[in-house]
Amino acid sequence: MGLLDAKVVVVTGAGRGIGRGEALECAAQGAAVVVAEFDADAGEAVAKEIEVAGGRAVAVSGDVADSAVADSLVRAAVEEFGGLDAVVNNAGILRDKTVAKMSDDDWDAVVRVHLRGHFLPTRAAMQYWRENKRGGHLVHTASTSGLLGNFGQGNYGAAKAGIAAFSTIVAQEGARAGITSNAIAPTALTRMTLDLMPQEARDQRDEALARGEFDFFAPENIAPLVAFLCSDASSHISGKVFGV
Ligand SMILES: NC(=O)c1ccc[n+]([C@@H]2O[C@H](COP(=O)([O-])OP(=O)(O)OC[C@H]3O[C@@H](n4cnc5c(N)ncnc54)[C@H](O)[C@@H]3O)[C@@H](O)[C@H]2O)c1
Repeated sequence: MGLLDAKVVVVTGAGRGIGRGEALECAAQGAAVVVAEFDADAGEAVAKEIEVAGGRAVAVSGDVADSAVADSLVRAAVEEFGGLDAVVNNAGILRDKTVAKMSDDDWDAVVRVHLRGHFLPTRAAMQYWRENKRGGHLVHTASTSGLLGNFGQGNYGAAKAGIAAFSTIVAQEGARAGITSNAIAPTALTRMTLDLMPQEARDQRDEALARGEFDFFAPENIAPLVAFLCSDASSHISGKVFGV
């Protein structure tokens, strides 16, 4: 018995990093997964990985900050797997610059992917749940950069603080319909953060891994909490932000 048996979950940015870990864990817990990913090859590879392990998955490629793509994720869940139970909004990018050096495009691109990229799949899911008179679960991806601040991330931190606020408001709006909305603030070593980790810390991690110790920074570590927040076992939890 898995936590998500017979459930259908959409995970955005699921082609690599934290999103890949979330997609694999949701599938391992029994869910059929819509692997939403900008990079078509990466998305297909994760969908295939799930299928090879005996799970069910479909890859949908495109930009989740585009409303046609966001709507197509819910459509894929319904058409391929018969419904939608949870959405994990995870897709994101960085364009770090201090504010004085930040271009209009650095600002717009980051705010667009994170805020529109969270709003549009959330709206599509809430509309589907409303039309079908049922509840569901939403997990959004904030960051300590938004909650505490981080040098050089004015665009990203502002977007991530916005995501935490958005999640709380969605929790209020969804409460009567049985829709939960929670956010996570993860930390993991991925393509996004590899260059940000000081060499000394990377060396220490490599030594710890060579000794067979637990990989504190593995992106897969984020996934168990997210799978729980996608499940009905967490129906009493909403409007929270979890550091992971
Ligand atoms: N890694 C960390 O320590 C950390 C910390 C705080 C928050 N986060 C957040 O976690 C999430 C995942 O980050 P990660 O570290 O796994 O990064 P990553 O770069 O390894 O993976 C992000 C994935 O999202 C995809 N993506 C980007 N824009 C997209 C779009 N518009 N549409 C569809 N897919 C898109 C990318 O192609 C990539 O596969 C992001 O929202 C990030 O801001 C990460």
